[in-house]
Amino acid sequence: KKIAVLNGPNLNRLGKREPEIYGAKTLEDIAEELKSSFPEAEFDFFQSNHEGALVDKFSELAESDFDGVIFNPAAYSHTSVALRDAISGAGLPVVEVHISNVHTREAFRHHSYTAEVSKGVIAGLGTDGYLLAARALLGLA
Ligand code: DQA
Repeated sequence: KKIAVLNGPNLNRLGKREPEIYGAKTLEDIAEELKSSFPEAEFDFFQSNHEGALVDKFSELAESDFDGVIFNPAAYSHTSVALRDAISGAGLPVVEVHISNVHTREAFRHHSYTAEVSKGVIAGLGTDGYLLAARALLGLA
């Protein structure tokens, strides 16, 4: 199965950015963990700080043979109707991942436009959330 792993703004600095909230692992570490934990799967990794680039990625995925998407929209979760529409228009199962527990943080993080059109949401379990999302999407759960 083919799984796309998309990460939104500021996650390029994962591992260095607020490690007390987001932990010490980098996106590269997460990619290595996904590949070694699920050798049978094919992963495609994409990170962008730009909302439109993430929208473009969803329209590409909509026309592809990918089976699902692991998506951490980061701050765009809380603001982006465009990404919400991109997900619902793509017709692919999306599992939204938040490294931190957004529900225990500021009120503006409690609502997610993108979660409303996602198959499932994992929040607060650190970077293991990506592995749990892959497990779910690969139908192993
Ligand atoms: C985040 C939570 C968001 O509220 C925040 O804007 C992020 C990261 C997380 O993974 O915990 O950038 O998506």
